[in-house]
Amino acid sequence: MPVVVVVGAQWGDEGKGAMVDTLAKEADIVVRFQGGANAGHTVIYKGKPVALHLIPSGITHEHTVCVIGNGVVVDPKALLDEIEALSSLGISITPERLKISDRAHLTLPYHRMLDAAREMAGSRLRLGTTRRGVGPTYVDKVDRVGIRVGDLKFPERLETKLRINWEHKQAFFNALPPDERPDFNAVLDELLKYAELIQPYITDTVTWLNEQADAGRRILLEGAQGTGLDVDFGTYPFVTSSNTTAGGACTGSGLPPTKINFVLGIAKAYTTRVGEGPFPTELQGEEQVKLREKGREYGATTGRPRRCGWFDAVLVRYAATVNGCTALALTKLDVLSGYPEVKICVAYRWRGEMLTTFPAESFILEEVEPVYETLPGWDEPLSECRSWEKLPANAQRFVMRLQELVGVPIATVSVGPERSCVLTKPDAPSIW
Ligand code: GDP
Ligand code: IMO
Ligand code: MG
Repeated sequence: MPVVVVVGAQWGDEGKGAMVDTLAKEADIVVRFQGGANAGHTVIYKGKPVALHLIPSGITHEHTVCVIGNGVVVDPKALLDEIEALSSLGISITPERLKISDRAHLTLPYHRMLDAAREMAGSRLRLGTTRRGVGPTYVDKVDRVGIRVGDLKFPERLETKLRINWEHKQAFFNALPPDERPDFNAVLDELLKYAELIQPYITDTVTWLNEQADAGRRILLEGAQGTGLDVDFGTYPFVTSSNTTAGGACTGSGLPPTKINFVLGIAKAYTTRVGEGPFPTELQGEEQVKLREKGREYGATTGRPRRCGWFDAVLVRYAATVNGCTALALTKLDVLSGYPEVKICVAYRWRGEMLTTFPAESFILEEVEPVYETLPGWDEPLSECRSWEKLPANAQRFVMRLQELVGVPIATVSVGPERSCVLTKPDAPSIW
């Protein structure tokens, strides 16, 4: 009963998509369990990068079935655009290959408006969101006024559902200039159009996934964002609106904890973050620009430059604990080639104290000074390395030190975005 959870161990963009795509070679099913079109997961298809937002990263493998789980918030327009874009690349998407949970919630056009409104320049509420309407959709879900994918199966009930949701937004709509207020009938018509197009994909994925797990199918549960962005465990309030960690894989798919066999945390060999919020190891000035350019760190969803800094072992150790990681996959080691010295943050100094655990308060993380350990770097480019043994001794030493500091085995190290660039460490625990 091999069910594997893949989660981000930093602030997102760790290379989850590439790793899920690699592991999907041997999987039957890939499930997204939280987040929405805020995610940008890059896979290489026919030699070119493809950014996936809602569709799971197993889609380029013809044999895998992809599932959008109940914990995901689905923007129907973004979904249909993505299906079309993938189809134009020759990736066929049929109801046999893509199943969408009837319990997933829908993102409507005004959720995107609400997201953008709180992000306005000068707003005290600004978080640097992706403006994909994800937060406001989860608000509706928890406030029990959301519209779910399953509601699309009953078009005759949609008008009432939409009226309730509309009423909930009255204060916001009234505050808009009249020509910017959304039109009820136009939104309803759009929803009815989506209902027809999405209907064939709607599935009771909770029952289906449990049946598949019981039949011994290999299931990969793909997280979006990362532990630092988890609404409970991340740098609140600078977080996303869902549980990005391993527990979210259960609530977001309906597969219970007793069916999870392996949790793989994904971490980059350095750290990045997009949007606002504390980032203890963030580099400044030229040093930050150098790492960003070497790693090509630009958002896969918004194109924003990512903030960059050294590996933070305090954060990743915390992520390993919160997720119960069986192992870690370390990505983008190739990006660190050419640094005479590489740094690892091993603790934080705060008001004369030494912190070795990740504090709950974002203001403390803003104030901490990282305590670095410095290791010798390596000059050799790694992108052609195809085995752990061929890595330069200093690169191996860096990985072994990270493993020691984080406290869980590093199973794989990747040296490029392609499937062939994932090197398995000789002592790695077997994932399947
Ligand atoms: P995700 O959101 O966690 O799936 O990550 P993103 O796709 O947003 O960002 C990771 C980026 O790094 C993508 O452009 C990947 O193609 C790329 N990538 C993944 N693994 C590696 C690696 O080992 N080396 C290099 N150079 N690039 C990688
Ligand atoms: P993947 O899955 C990196 C960040 C945003 C913002 C915060 C809240 O590709 O790793 P939201 O739109 O979710 O309300 O924004 O979370 N964020 C991400 N950062 N990678 C992502 O996804 C992200 N999804 C959201 O930048 O700081
Ligand atoms: Mg990403």
